[in-house]
Amino acid sequence: MSAVLAGVAAAPLYVTNKKLKSWVNEVAQLTQPDRVVWCDGSQQEYERLCDELVKAGTFRRLNASKRPGSFLALSDPSDVARVEDRTYICSETEDDAGPTNNWIEPAAMRATLNGLFAGSMRGRTMYVIPFSMGPLGSHISQIGVEISDSAYVVVNMRIMTRMGRAAIDALGADGEFVPCLHSVGRPLRRGEKDVPWPCNSTKYIVHFPRTREIWSYGSGYGGNALLGKKCLALRIASTMARDGAQTDGLGWLAEHMLVLGVTSPEGRKYHIAAAFPSACGKTNFAMLIPPPAFAGWTVTTVGEDIAWIKPGKDGRLYAINPEAGFFGVAPGTSESTNRNAMATLREDVIFTNVALTDDGDVWWEGMGPPPSHLVDWQGNDWTPADGKAGRNAAHPNARFTVPAAQCPAIDDDWENPNGVPLDAILFGGRRSTTVPLVTEARSWVEGVYMAATMGSETTAAQAGAQGVLRRDPFAMLPFCGYNMGDYFGHWLALGAKLAANAVAPPKIFTVNWFRTDRDGKFIWPGFGENMRVLQWIVDRVDGEADGVEHALGVSPRYKDITWDGLDFPQQKFDEITSIDADDWREEIALHSDLFDILHQRLPPEFAQTRQGFERRLARG
Ligand code: OXD
Ligand code: MN
Repeated sequence: MSAVLAGVAAAPLYVTNKKLKSWVNEVAQLTQPDRVVWCDGSQQEYERLCDELVKAGTFRRLNASKRPGSFLALSDPSDVARVEDRTYICSETEDDAGPTNNWIEPAAMRATLNGLFAGSMRGRTMYVIPFSMGPLGSHISQIGVEISDSAYVVVNMRIMTRMGRAAIDALGADGEFVPCLHSVGRPLRRGEKDVPWPCNSTKYIVHFPRTREIWSYGSGYGGNALLGKKCLALRIASTMARDGAQTDGLGWLAEHMLVLGVTSPEGRKYHIAAAFPSACGKTNFAMLIPPPAFAGWTVTTVGEDIAWIKPGKDGRLYAINPEAGFFGVAPGTSESTNRNAMATLREDVIFTNVALTDDGDVWWEGMGPPPSHLVDWQGNDWTPADGKAGRNAAHPNARFTVPAAQCPAIDDDWENPNGVPLDAILFGGRRSTTVPLVTEARSWVEGVYMAATMGSETTAAQAGAQGVLRRDPFAMLPFCGYNMGDYFGHWLALGAKLAANAVAPPKIFTVNWFRTDRDGKFIWPGFGENMRVLQWIVDRVDGEADGVEHALGVSPRYKDITWDGLDFPQQKFDEITSIDADDWREEIALHSDLFDILHQRLPPEFAQTRQGFERRLARG
């Protein structure tokens, strides 16, 4: 770490990239920090910054014997989640951003941002944070450099990405990087004491897809501030992936997907990517522990949030996890729901907005019985009586930041620079009715149609009424950096090109763990028992499992699933796999709501696919 006073951004000697040096100087002149620090990513730097964060009151060091090397941060109550209504895709035209993104004309947005960033780092340190999304040196990886006035961002980025000098070395003198500029928007007057969680009520999370730039102002939290994650690895990367088709005729995919490995007792390994919207158990599925009856099967985690998927030399699709850590939702995580996550969290974790126990450890809703006293995420005393009265001890979006390598189920290939070859892609939503447990799409086109029209019912964790059905195409609605209609077209074109090269694309499946009975209770036990569905899926990949073809695709019959060790009667199975023709006619009619919004750029194949479904449903 090298520090220089008074806004002079002299770079360490190992930085040879002129474009980077001049951008850092420009930003220092605009934002006027007291000092500029180039982060080297070392352990000493991490520890020094954590100590500074403790002194500043942002971090509290947790009990060294209960939670070694770990810290708790409590954010400002107004800065607790991604701000989708303040997130912009500033493409050259509004149509390129599409009707599902916020758009402002790029020049106007630049004027606004220049005004906000002018002097925004006064009294603070400006950190230069070089990072690689993806294993260092992988042909799939991308280098980014985040400039931030938040030390909390630096230490989180060190966990979530390959951060520091190694990224500068990978960049080299002439390499390209994505500039990511971040300010909490809270300059300090001379002598003014800082607050523990500086932020600003004005917030902008802005992407310029043409110039591949990210500007984020006013928030210190999660995806708003750790710019490698949603901003770079999804919104900007999705535009890079689409534009890649102009260079190599294929392009690639940047997706909101977990990636896991499944190994059978015979030692055959399969890789599966899966997209689920928020609050659908993505991390639990990525770290699934097979039930005892599945002795010999193992599930390993490649990633739990984002996948970059590219055709390899053999033409097949390969996936990497661009991240190096997990920024997971803590509430609901327990020894019974996700033992692997709990083991990952034993040490060296940054917790944000969970509750603090009297012995200096952490607690959150869903972890187990609450202790008799806690300090809640806002720093107030909390007892179980408060919980009964509906006051949460941890914020519902409280998070842990932890190195992926600490996960006991981490896949041996999780850092393989070539990625892992995909056998299947799953799409899942939260649906109490209509959508069956698992369906294999008959074709890539039908799978893409199903993914485009997937929906989820809102939960108590989201603002507004519960149980309202929202379309969330590919679980990418908040994360697609261009027109969603073009995005569907890109998926279709990639599948067609793989087929033209005589490569079978991964099979596409839709899953739904969330059908409920008349009392509103989940029928399917989920969690580890999802292994039964995974086994059917991988057997289908090998052409070894049977199923029944229906109007929407192919699903297992009761006898096609292994039931050893689970008492799950056929009548319940029939309830969660039934396809009600009337419900489905209504469902398909509802797809119009999305298609009407996207009509200008909707792929023509969708109309035909939809008619095919309607015809088959009419036949019964
Ligand atoms: C996340 C999200 O934080 O999808 O991963 O919101
Ligand atoms: Mn996510």
